[in-house]
Amino acid sequence: MTAESNIQLDRRSADGDAVLEVENLTVEFPTEDGVVQAVRGVSYRLAPGEAMGIVGESGSGKSVTSMAVMGLLPKTAKITGSVRFRGEELLGRSENGFAEIRGKKIAMIFQDPLTSLNPVYTVGRQIAEAILAHNDVSKKVANDRAVELLATVGIPFPEQRVNNYPHEMSGGMRQRVVIAIAMANDPDVIIADEPTTALDVTVQAQVLEALEAARAATGAALVLITHDLGVIAGHADRICVMYAGKLVEKGTVDEVFYEPRMPYTLGLLGSLPRLDEAGRERLTPIVGSPPSLMHLPPGCPFTPRCPLAQPICEEREPDLYGTDQPGHVAACHFHERLVGVTPGQLFRPTSADTGSVAPANLETQQ
Ligand SMILES: Nc1ncnc2c1ncn2[C@@H]1O[C@H](COP(=O)(O)OP(=O)(O)OP(=O)(O)O)[C@@H](O)[C@H]1O
Ligand code: SF4
Ligand SMILES: [Mg+2]
Repeated sequence: MTAESNIQLDRRSADGDAVLEVENLTVEFPTEDGVVQAVRGVSYRLAPGEAMGIVGESGSGKSVTSMAVMGLLPKTAKITGSVRFRGEELLGRSENGFAEIRGKKIAMIFQDPLTSLNPVYTVGRQIAEAILAHNDVSKKVANDRAVELLATVGIPFPEQRVNNYPHEMSGGMRQRVVIAIAMANDPDVIIADEPTTALDVTVQAQVLEALEAARAATGAALVLITHDLGVIAGHADRICVMYAGKLVEKGTVDEVFYEPRMPYTLGLLGSLPRLDEAGRERLTPIVGSPPSLMHLPPGCPFTPRCPLAQPICEEREPDLYGTDQPGHVAACHFHERLVGVTPGQLFRPTSADTGSVAPANLETQQ
């Protein structure tokens, strides 16, 4: 069931050749206290031009998954599985082998733009350098292109702004400069890791617009990583939900938002303010915190926080099961019981009030 449904999803999402294929990716970090199982068998395929969101709480393995794709993990990390860019294996490549791809074919945008920008050079010079690193063009052409790229990401007066140093710009503008650098070489994939988390809400919207503009101009596929499902809604075609190093639900945005089949996804949805209900329904946050990835128990890692948990959940970790929609998969032994269930029914508000998990009684509530 698992393998079959994954293949269905991938056929539907990646008609023809996938631009990026991640298959059964695992990442472990040996530490003095034990082995951290940061990523545990993640698989996804990204079609050309597609936008995929990866959502999950802090520590669920979102960044480590992307750092493995980009070849940016420390040497101590033990990585298995496969990462293919246009059919070519990336795992096991030398630093030089990754350098051909990184920045040119796959570009990455991090949460804090200051880590990506050099404080002692103007933003124009940094964009031009990114262009010159991979293209045989004159400095004049690279500089002109830098102005164009700043205009594309919505920076006003780009002819003047191109001469600014990073500290002369606001946080939102700096992040747009980083997006301009990511676009500079017309990449096939842009991976944006929490690109708006450090910014206030109005600026977040501008940065997301800049990302959309970058996608439109380059035709790149996008992997948008966030802990906020609300950010993904208008900016992705499909969603992968991560929990404790695994993908626990995959589907289209509509499937994940309106027909979720994994209690953790319902929990994330219940934590979102929903304007349509005008505040009539209380938020239903998930009680407790995610498990340590060092000593994971044998069963479903969501068991201690799950209102639907049964004894089997402590014994056996669920596979990704297919649902009634081809390609929509969820890792829950009881996914069929969640048809038509709302977050408010599953996570009763009393759970948050008492700090303990109230078992769900779906039969009486449906
Ligand atoms: N170099 C490392 N050595 C040991 N453990 C690590 C290392 N890098 C990451 N981890 C661990 O791997 C797990 C996954 O981390 P990751 O950064 O991918 O989480 P995340 O989902 O991106 O979280 P956030 O939303 O906070 O960015 C965490 O438990 C983290 O502590
Ligand atoms: S497998 Fe069990 S504990 Fe895990 S999400 Fe499903 S019901 Fe909850
Ligand atoms: Mg992260």
